[in-house]
Amino acid sequence: MKKERLDKILSSQNIGTRREADGIIRAGRVSVNGAVERRPAFRTDADTDSIALDGAPLTVKRHLYLMMNKPSGVLSASRDPSARTVVDLLPRPWRRRGIFPAGRLDKDTEGLLILTDDGNFAHRMLAPKSHVAKWYEARLASPVTDADAPAFRSGVELSDRACLPAELSVLEGGAEPLVLVKIREGKYHQVKRMFLARGNRVLALRRVRIGGLELDPRLGVGQARELETREREAVFTGPVLQK
Ligand code: URA
Repeated sequence: MKKERLDKILSSQNIGTRREADGIIRAGRVSVNGAVERRPAFRTDADTDSIALDGAPLTVKRHLYLMMNKPSGVLSASRDPSARTVVDLLPRPWRRRGIFPAGRLDKDTEGLLILTDDGNFAHRMLAPKSHVAKWYEARLASPVTDADAPAFRSGVELSDRACLPAELSVLEGGAEPLVLVKIREGKYHQVKRMFLARGNRVLALRRVRIGGLELDPRLGVGQARELETREREAVFTGPVLQK
């Protein structure tokens, strides 16, 4: 890994803003390889040098991975001149790190969104060949028919293309049922268009799972938290149970 300024490394680890990190370093609270370093601009390699804060070794994390429970009405983007984005909702230390949503949810869709500054992770998760499945709960305008689940399984025909096989199950019946949909691709308005093609309409949509990673039920709408390593890996492998 390349050398970076000490104040930049500290602020990247949520120890404070760059200015706060500056103060911490100038106060003599930081050491590099055992020697106190008071220069915020001092360049060091966090992979090979040992950095300590107040005598405690710092394990520098290269990237940030967050799970957000996205609210409706917020754009899945980093910045937008006229609308509030998911990045605007993050606490300040997480907002300054080149973080972006890995994949998009529509403005009116809620639920599980991963935000990261790791382009490779996002690319791997979104690449069609990774086949990472996504699960959505959808509230529908009309009851499902007996033909809907088989049609989802064989690939719903959209105007321009056929979808990959998907799964549909009913969670709650009634005039406006709640259903669970599993898809393996993420085309524009995919779930909404699949139901439109079946003569139905999505009233509300919420993503609940990506690969083996489920939305943490303790995460309030609009909140985010860091992902544990095993949770991050679960996107590509099996499920992890929430503690
Ligand atoms: N499908 C949709 O239609 N919208 C989303 O936000 C995600 C999947």
